[in-house]
This record gives sequence, C-alpha cells and structure tokens, in this order.
Amino acid sequence: MKSRLPILAISVALLAGAAVAAPPVNNADPSAVTWAEHVAPILHANCVSCHRPGQTAPMSLLSYDETRPWAKSIRKVTTDRTMPPWFANPEHGAFVEDPSLTDAEIETLNRWVAAGAPAGDLAQAPEPPSFSSEWKLGPPDLVYTAPEYHVSDDIEDHYEWLQVDNPVDEERWIRAIEIHPGFVEGVHHQLTYLAPPDATLAGVQSATGTLDLTFVGGWGPGVAPLQFADGHGMRMPPNSTLFFQMHYHKTPGPGTGGTDQTTMGLYFHDEKPENVVETLWLVDPTLNIPAGDADYHSWSSFTTEHEAVLFDFTPHMHLRGKAMTFTAEYPDGRKEVLLDVPNYDFNWQLTYTPTEPRVIPAGTTIRVDAKFDNSTDNLTNPDPTSNVTWGEATTDEMMVGFIHYTFSDRTQQTNMPTFIVPDALKEQIEQVREFRRKQREAAAAAAAETSGG
Ligand code: HEC
Repeated sequence: MKSRLPILAISVALLAGAAVAAPPVNNADPSAVTWAEHVAPILHANCVSCHRPGQTAPMSLLSYDETRPWAKSIRKVTTDRTMPPWFANPEHGAFVEDPSLTDAEIETLNRWVAAGAPAGDLAQAPEPPSFSSEWKLGPPDLVYTAPEYHVSDDIEDHYEWLQVDNPVDEERWIRAIEIHPGFVEGVHHQLTYLAPPDATLAGVQSATGTLDLTFVGGWGPGVAPLQFADGHGMRMPPNSTLFFQMHYHKTPGPGTGGTDQTTMGLYFHDEKPENVVETLWLVDPTLNIPAGDADYHSWSSFTTEHEAVLFDFTPHMHLRGKAMTFTAEYPDGRKEVLLDVPNYDFNWQLTYTPTEPRVIPAGTTIRVDAKFDNSTDNLTNPDPTSNVTWGEATTDEMMVGFIHYTFSDRTQQTNMPTFIVPDALKEQIEQVREFRRKQREAAAAAAAETSGG
C-alpha cells in the first residue's frame, strides 16, 4: 500500500456540503439500494478503469462477488474522496474526464453499505464495460518500444531513465501520443522527453540534466492518451533523442517482480499543423527546503507578451510536495485561479485539462505557487531531518508546473518559450549549476584517485 496524505480541509468542506444536500428520498428504506441497480453503474463508470484484473489497483470491482468484501472500504474512500483519485479543488475550473463522484452518488454508496451491501437482481445488472489492449486512438504512425527493464521482487520505488531508439531523422509534428505500460502492476508513471541529437543517458541522469529536455506527455493510472486539438501539434526536431523516465512502484516481496517493456504510439500530422504547441515548464530549481519545514513556499512565473491559449496543467513535485496553484494575473489586475491542487499527492501524476482551453491576454502573468512539507507531519516524508534541494531522485525535490500552450497569433509561434525561470531566479540558478558542476568534478576526481591508487 502506498501511504496517503491526511485528508485536509477541502474534503471536510465537501462532506459538510454533502450532508446538507443529501436527498431525503428513500431514507426510510435503505434496502432499496442494490448493487445490480444502483451501485454497479457508479463503479463501472468511475472505478473499473483501474479496479480490474491486470491494472494498478489492488482489487477488481467488476462483479458483485468481487466488490462485496470491499463494501465498507468503498464507503470510506469515497466518502473521504480519496477515490477516485482527483485533486483539483472543484471551486476553480471544470476539467475533462473529472472522475469525481457527485454527492448523490456517494450517498447512494453509503446507503448501499448501510443496507448490508445487497446484490439485488444480478440478472438485471449492467454488463461491465469492455476494455481492449488495442490502441485507443487507432493504429499509431510509429510504435516505440523501450528496452526491457526487469523490476526485481525487492523493488518498492525505483526510477529508471531509458533511452528509446528513434528512427525518425526528419522533422515531424506530433498530433497525439498513447502510452502502454508493459508491466502495468509495477509502473507508477512514465514521462516522455525529447532531447537534442547528442543527448546521453548519463546527461539526463545528472541533477541538472532535466533542465534541457522537452516534456511531451506521460502515462499514469487514470491518465488518458494526449491528443492535441485539430490543427495543433508539437514539433519533434530531426534525430531527436528520446527518453522515457520510468517510475516503478509496487509492494516488494517474493513473486511481485516482472519485466517491463513499455511502448508508445506516436501519431503524426502529415504536414506542419497550423498551430504549434509547446510545453511550458514553470520551475524553481533553486528550491532549498530546510529540514522540518512544514510550509515551504516556492514559486515561478511567466508573463506572456502575446495572447496565449493554455490547454492543460500538470503539477509535478516529489514526496514533500503539498499543494500547487496555477494563477493568471491579468493586465487589469484581476487574478484568477486556473487550477488549485490543495492536497497534492505524488502517487498520482495527473494532468488537468480545462473543458475549454483557457485564452490568456497579452501581458498576463501565469504564476505557479507550490507548498512543501518537510516535517514529520508529512506521512510520506522519507527523512524530515535533511534539507532538500532540486534533483531527480524521489527523495530530492522538484517544482514544475507543466502547461501545454500556443500563441493565438501564428506569426508568434516560431520561437515559443519552453523552460521558464523567472528573472529573479536566473542568477541563483547559475550558481546552483556551477555548484553542481564542481560537485560532479570533485566526485569524478575522487573516483579517479581511488581507482588509480
Ligand atoms: C486511476 C485509478 C483508480 C481509480 C479510477 C479508482 N481507484 Fe481505487 N485504488 C487505486 C489504486 C492504485 C489503489 C491502491 C491504493 C494506493 O496505491 O493508493 C486503490 C485503492 C482503493 C481502495 C482501498 C483498497 C485497500 O487496499 O484498502 C478502495 C476501497 C478503492 N480503491 C475503491 C475505489 C472506488 C470505489 C473507486 C471509484 C469510485 C476507485 N477506487 C477508483 C486506483 C484507482
């Protein structure tokens, strides 16, 4: 079991709302609620994408017999809104494929459990949805196959960068991307990056190596394939080096290992699309979180000189990550929260796609504010006694707000910013880079000395 952060104010507020809004109908006769008639449709629509055999979740909720033993836990995790996993504060923005249950659905599950979790007429139960291992978006133009990686029995958490052969030597435009993890039970998430032709594995594995990559898209449980709007695409420069960052996570123990070979289907436009999509990284690589600090604040921002269209938001932090907010500060001084994730959970690398792309006028500042908890209150904190800085390992930290975006004016799409570090942080970053470079040199010198003598 992965550990979970405590449920904070937001779920409590939602619960209070639910209690007030609960419909009085049928309260006298809870037995009217059955699995076949009321519960199966809720679970099939919102849970079985993960809770079925061969997926990441620990048990299947497809049939009554499989679900019955879990009734009480289902009541608990849906009432406190830990399931289905979704962390956007509903007060700010509407997002596609939001799996959150409505108050009425949670109430139905509660009443079903209170009635003893009856089956009802199983003959009338809906068929579970069918899932196929086929490509959801149809046959890809090119299938990339990562090198095999053996996830050994004793692995609980492990990061692995894999270089994936890229046969494409000319410029291509990515229209969509679909990722199929190989060893589903053990893959926590996958991130796809493009790098220049001369990039090496050793380079990306170094602490600051990730600062020169282009993030394309990724996979995690519950993450749908990434598809850009019609007429939009991301550029893949000729001879790009392709990296997958794999995060393996599972319960360690005999027989839990497996061999992963993750595949990615890329879908290309036939020619350059009308609009170029880029990934904006709003980062703070200077973060330096003191041991024990329960409320460390870090931020980054970007002021757009042109009207921009924002397609989605992906908060990324590691185990000390606590909360992240994306805010637009409009030229007229108005502020709007575009996405608020008050209880960030590293276990779920979710992308939040607004139901309508957000159009942001020229002169708007897009700000990302992050909070970190490096104290003992944070149940996922691996070591509250150490200071934490930017780095690749789960035990290091990151502060990245990813945004897929374009400029409305096509003539401005030729050189779109990607990696954003606020001017206020630039000098510090050079210092950090210099410091890390010296550290690496010192380590290399020490290693050479040891092997030489
Ligand atoms: C995106 C994938 C996903 C979806 C959707 C999802 N779950 Fe889960 N669920 C998981 C995973 C993975 C776990 C294992 C716990 C963990 O790692 O956090 C889990 C754990 C649980 C548990 C606790 C099991 C235990 O060991 O105690 C329950 C109960 C549960 N889910 C019920 C539900 C219900 C009910 C829904 C739908 C309303 C749902 N889940 C939707 C992935 C999912």
